[in-house]
Amino acid sequence: MNAKTKITSVAILTSGGDSPGMNCVIRSVVRTAIGNGIKVYGINKGYEGLLNNDMIEMNASSVGNIIQRGGTILQSSRCPEFREKHNREKAAQILEDRGIKALIVIGGDGSFKGAIALNQEMGVPVIGIPGTIDNDISGTQYTIGFDTAVQTAIEAVDKIRDTAASSNRTFFIEVMGAKSSSIALKVGICTGAENVLLSDQKVDHQKIADAIRRGIRRGKGSSIIIVAEGDKPGRSYDIAHILKDLHDISSKVCVLGHIQRGGSPTSNDRFLGSVMGQMAIETLMEGNTQNAIVVRDDRVQSVPLSDCSEKSDHAMKAFKGIAEELSI
Ligand code: F6P
Repeated sequence: MNAKTKITSVAILTSGGDSPGMNCVIRSVVRTAIGNGIKVYGINKGYEGLLNNDMIEMNASSVGNIIQRGGTILQSSRCPEFREKHNREKAAQILEDRGIKALIVIGGDGSFKGAIALNQEMGVPVIGIPGTIDNDISGTQYTIGFDTAVQTAIEAVDKIRDTAASSNRTFFIEVMGAKSSSIALKVGICTGAENVLLSDQKVDHQKIADAIRRGIRRGKGSSIIIVAEGDKPGRSYDIAHILKDLHDISSKVCVLGHIQRGGSPTSNDRFLGSVMGQMAIETLMEGNTQNAIVVRDDRVQSVPLSDCSEKSDHAMKAFKGIAEELSI
């Protein structure tokens, strides 16, 4: 396949952790493709489904009534086997045997790495669309699902704030994000949290205790500390125990967990998902074969796929200073 090959059929998959808004992208890709006379195959369960040749042809009504639904109708998976070259060869062969001219991958940085390898080694035309609640892919300010996850977490924190304030309590509220602090930073800023602990930050218990005591001296009854889950989901329990044992500060812990991954996408995720899906097909029709559809300079753009090869929470990290300044 080369850049001048006319695109007659494409396949689409969702990979890694699902995120709200993936369905909006699928819907947009399918309807734009069909409107332009291009066949679309929906691959079930990400790269795992591709390796199992598990896909069906989609039509306009396959994607009816999904724009408001969280998760992904195609289902997703984490597929370590795709890191092996012989499996990427198999995937390329399956696509070729079916006459599929390009693959659209919606997922996070791991899914992008697989897509880049498939493109570079096997020459399969690939378009990547960033979809993960973690907002942590290089080359884009935004990943589909982040806004919805943040909104879900904000609603939870606001509720906890009510009870914390009513009983003068300190709460550690742990949000998702693995090695990314994006959700923690945005939620911290938007809920007026007293502190945000980043995923890559060494926890300084003395500093946390000092900040809580400073707040109490200023008449603060309660404190909310947002914790990025980091490498160890549930690490807030350890922090709370140490604070009690070494500094005699009692606190409560709430780990929000997978509630942040589900739910109906916000208007932001629906809108960007729709625009990105459409641009993915347009990009292919223009003859591009190794692109990602990203948000940059607050605009949806088609850029080289290789720009998105790294895990990076750069977009929200830029606001770390504001989170610190406001959380006194
Ligand atoms: O999809 C991203 C993410 O939700 C991270 O925030 C989290 O650390 C991880 O996935 C959890 O993965 P799993 O659902 O496979 O446990």
